[in-house]
Amino acid sequence: MKHVIIITGAGKGIGKSIALDFAKATRNNAGFEPLLVLISRTMTDLEDLAAECRTLGAETVIYEADIAKTALMEEIVRDVMVKFGHIDCLVNNAGVGRFKAFGEFTGEDLHYTMATNVNGTFFLTQNVFGIMQKQRSGHIFFITSVAAEKAFRSSAIYCMSKFAQHGLVEVIRLYARECNVRITNVMPGAVFTPMWGEVPEEMQNLMMMPEDISGPVVQSYLQPGRTVTEELVFRPVGGDIND
Ligand SMILES: NC(=O)c1ccc[n+]([C@@H]2O[C@H](COP(=O)([O-])OP(=O)(O)OC[C@H]3O[C@@H](n4cnc5c(N)ncnc54)[C@H](OP(=O)(O)O)[C@@H]3O)[C@@H](O)[C@H]2O)c1
Repeated sequence: MKHVIIITGAGKGIGKSIALDFAKATRNNAGFEPLLVLISRTMTDLEDLAAECRTLGAETVIYEADIAKTALMEEIVRDVMVKFGHIDCLVNNAGVGRFKAFGEFTGEDLHYTMATNVNGTFFLTQNVFGIMQKQRSGHIFFITSVAAEKAFRSSAIYCMSKFAQHGLVEVIRLYARECNVRITNVMPGAVFTPMWGEVPEEMQNLMMMPEDISGPVVQSYLQPGRTVTEELVFRPVGGDIND
């Protein structure tokens, strides 16, 4: 049976790398057939990625959607269930960040960040977890951040949203242990992705790359079902940048 794997924010950065690594895993894991459900807000990113994944041997389905639009996300999950009948993995990766001095944040910054990182993640997880509870199987990854447990000066709203995700992870674990569902909290430090915008070369050299995160995520999924990697924490070898 194919592994139905939903990845939010799959178009760029860490999410894209996770999709590609799942597709590549077909080569070294006999019998592993992923069916990748790729979601982000930019169709062209999804089309390019889907073509690459198919070349690597993975079936893909794409949905252009904003996870903050909860009714649309419910429709997508319904559609996935009608088409495939089960969901094996959800990677809650879609996330946004705006970074500035504490006094400069606006209501729009707060609404924009919380709508995706908190509300969108919460309702999609609630929906998919309900399905996994009934199946008595599944694996949910949350790509939170080291900012889910550590303060960064220019990240007041981002930290707040990531601490909130961390709270959700810890609560859902209590339910997941009762129904054979695996929960993994992935906490990366600085990874060089489009989220950072323009980055000077000296800074790029201090950062991790998306594949440093995506490889262990896919390996955690492929572990025997009796075992869950509960947390993955990644930092640049020189420690956090931009403290
Ligand atoms: N990069 C880092 O240093 C770092 C460190 C720790 C944790 N993280 C976390 O890792 C995750 C991925 O970050 P990244 O660095 O890969 O970011 P990125 O390069 O900006 O990519 C984010 C992806 O998510 C999509 N996305 C954003 N908001 C969305 C929404 N509301 N609905 C659907 N798709 C959405 C974006 O595409 P569209 O804009 O086209 O929708 C894009 O494909 C985020 O949760 C981030 O907080 C990143």
